[in-house]
Amino acid sequence: MIYAVGIGPGDPDMMPYKTVKLLNSADVIAGFETVLNIARSHFNPSAEVISMGYKDQPQQMEVVGERSRDDKVCVVCFMGDVNFSGYEYLERIHNHSQEPNPTIIPGISSAQMAASRTLTAFETAVFLTFHKRGDITEDKEFLVQILKQGKSAIVIPLPWDFMPAEISQFLIERGIPKETKVDVFEYLTWEEKEKSYARTLETCVEKFSDVSLMVVSPNKTQS
Ligand SMILES: C[S@@+](CC[C@H](N)C(=O)[O-])C[C@H]1O[C@@H](n2cnc3c(N)ncnc32)[C@H](O)[C@@H]1O
Repeated sequence: MIYAVGIGPGDPDMMPYKTVKLLNSADVIAGFETVLNIARSHFNPSAEVISMGYKDQPQQMEVVGERSRDDKVCVVCFMGDVNFSGYEYLERIHNHSQEPNPTIIPGISSAQMAASRTLTAFETAVFLTFHKRGDITEDKEFLVQILKQGKSAIVIPLPWDFMPAEISQFLIERGIPKETKVDVFEYLTWEEKEKSYARTLETCVEKFSDVSLMVVSPNKTQS
């Protein structure tokens, strides 16, 4: 049995109770080291922990699959929510753990936190990720279109090629007014690490962390 769980944006208290109970009792807990560290306080102390990085994900996911076929309860931890910018990782479970139907438990996404911080109603906004493999040209065009329609955009940048400064510059070049409100958040909900930056497209020029998220709000002004 494999569970794919979203462990939330960083604060270990921001996790569904169901996920906490699963982590408390799982035989196997897997994920990226930084993600595991967020959830570690909830781990079953006798669980086998399978930590992975970008390079050894396929091999480590194969091990998770083997454990699952040995009737172990396996929990694979995802950053934030599984359903926002998480499906490339989910594919690793399908392909390498050979489990086509892991049970998904959603988590609180960094996008939900950013929406809360900026008072952005979901129905007035679009979620968009550039943090993906392959060509992002269509996603860039989509971002321009939705901003021109007056929708807000909650955007995951692409480290390090298309970060908030590059996104802002691109949007100005594509005709979005340079006064448009931009908020950048680093490490949302991480104790002592969270930072926020109130900017406009014109003033959004810094180099931000790779754990950052951007909200572009064409219908609001920066206070
Ligand atoms: C592959 S995406 C996964 C997003 C995740 N599934 C979610 O729902 O938040 C990883 C990127 O999300 C953004 N991110 C995740 N957690 C964040 C946080 N606490 N604060 C700011 N950005 C965050 C960063 O841009 C990070 O590089």
